[in-house]
Amino acid sequence: MSAITIRPARPGDASRIARLDVEIWQATYAGILATPFLVGLSAPRRERGWAGVIEREPRDVRVAVDDDGDILGFGSCGRGRDKAEFAGEVFTLYVAPDWQNQGIGRRLLLALFERLVAQGCGSAIIWVLRDNPARFFYQRLGGSDVRHRVFTVGGKPIEAAGYAWRDLPRFLGTAAQADGRPEP
Ligand SMILES: CC(C)(COP(=O)(O)OP(=O)(O)OC[C@H]1O[C@@H](n2cnc3c(N)ncnc32)[C@H](O)[C@@H]1OP(=O)(O)O)[C@@H](O)C(=O)NCCC(=O)NCCS
Repeated sequence: MSAITIRPARPGDASRIARLDVEIWQATYAGILATPFLVGLSAPRRERGWAGVIEREPRDVRVAVDDDGDILGFGSCGRGRDKAEFAGEVFTLYVAPDWQNQGIGRRLLLALFERLVAQGCGSAIIWVLRDNPARFFYQRLGGSDVRHRVFTVGGKPIEAAGYAWRDLPRFLGTAAQADGRPEP
């Protein structure tokens, strides 16, 4: 089995991230978001968005790559929209369907948390659609269900849950011990 590495994004990654982004949205949100909205997602449009994010701050985007450099998953983070309570936020976290449940999501999430701590963010929140089973992944990874709100996605109101980690350095220390590797 090939080794999987987590690294900061590079400008050349935007196209692959965008294609994966659209593919995963269509697989994950079928039955949750409106079909015309999902069908209308455009990889070239998303590529422009990702290129801008990577250009602004490549360290805020992490990708999981195999030995051939192929991107299997990605995530992004930054300063929180609700800074008063949670300094940091994870904006996206997606693993390609064939690669889910193999530990990549966990490694990406820890890399994003490490990035947030390096930026001085001691806490973080992640918003997940209420009907997305991924919220149990965040629960498994120690997040607490702290907020509920309604977002408008594709013109449709959608309930979302906010999962929070109030002490990221402590959480990373515990995760490192569990993995048997030195604390970051
Ligand atoms: C959610 C997602 C990022 C998780 O990544 P992953 O690589 O599949 O998860 P991992 O293999 O790292 O799982 C880590 C742990 O969480 C558990 N887990 C993963 N998905 C889970 C789920 N849906 N429900 C409950 N537990 C879950 C795993 O069993 C594992 O448990 P362990 O510590 O006992 O081994 C990934 O499945 C994904 O991209 N899903 C579709 C897109 C999505 O919904 N993204 C989130 C948007 S907010």
